[in-house]
Amino acid sequence: MNAIEISDLRYTYADSTVALKGISLVVKKGARAALLGPNGAGKSTLLMHLNGINLPQQGSVNIFSRMVNKVTAPEIRRQVGLVFQDPDDQVFSTSVWDDVAFGPLNIGLSRHEIERRVTDALKMVGMWELREKVPHHLSFGQKKRVAIAGVLAMDPEVIVLDEPTAYLDPGGQEVLMAILRDFHNRGKTLIVATHDMDMAAEWSDSVIIIKDGATLAHGGTELLGDISLMREANLRLPIVSQVFSHFDRFMGKALPKTVAEAVSVLEGYLK
Ligand SMILES: Nc1ncnc2c1ncn2[C@@H]1O[C@H](COP(=O)(O)OP(=O)(O)OP(=O)(O)O)[C@@H](O)[C@H]1O
Ligand SMILES: [Mg+2]
Repeated sequence: MNAIEISDLRYTYADSTVALKGISLVVKKGARAALLGPNGAGKSTLLMHLNGINLPQQGSVNIFSRMVNKVTAPEIRRQVGLVFQDPDDQVFSTSVWDDVAFGPLNIGLSRHEIERRVTDALKMVGMWELREKVPHHLSFGQKKRVAIAGVLAMDPEVIVLDEPTAYLDPGGQEVLMAILRDFHNRGKTLIVATHDMDMAAEWSDSVIIIKDGATLAHGGTELLGDISLMREANLRLPIVSQVFSHFDRFMGKALPKTVAEAVSVLEGYLK
């Protein structure tokens, strides 16, 4: 089953910037897709189409076979949780607690259920202690954690994260990885825009690369080891692959991308 189907999506901003020039792609249910591409490629513009914040000007977006349009957008927003690139666009209530409770309140959950969800979400992202604080006064990384908690509390089928690791400290990144693993284990579909090649290598099972509003490549994680493709997309190899690329014996072969792959290759040589 496909969670996301995008067909020939085009989008031009009011100032005539053509941000998307005909993007078509499919993300299967349960996938962990990494969306990569240089600054200004159109990643955020694309992701904001997945829950109807942006509506297609041309082409179509379907979520579980339902077309996103003005009528379906409110329903689709319950199915697709989006963590914005900039938490200042997302975090606006007078307390951290209220902010995370905003979504669950809007879908009419019981008070008990809202309390349970907000408590769990805040504890999961490590923001429970700061639940009374004004979100506006939080650090950027803390705001990002609150935005993630807001999506967690909605427990959507599809989770879309725009640059989630930016501004998170290493502990926060570990927590995020654990949250993403948990979502995946529960059969949810994940799509993450990131410039963090190591995160993409360690975490994703499929890769979408866009540039200048068009799809450059769409495939498995082997794309992350394609040096010329990475160069074309202003990206770089994962650090692990960079190390192995220095050795002639790996020329023309698939480079290890993750720590686990590197350990397994090195164990082979050390035996
Ligand atoms: N509100 C807007 N009005 C006009 N142009 C915009 C607007 N938002 C984005 N753009 C332009 O659309 C293009 C795509 O921007 P977008 O934010 O989608 O890129 P991105 O791939 O997410 O980049 P980054 O890696 O920096 O987050 C860019 O040229 C950008 O300048
Ligand atoms: Mg962006």
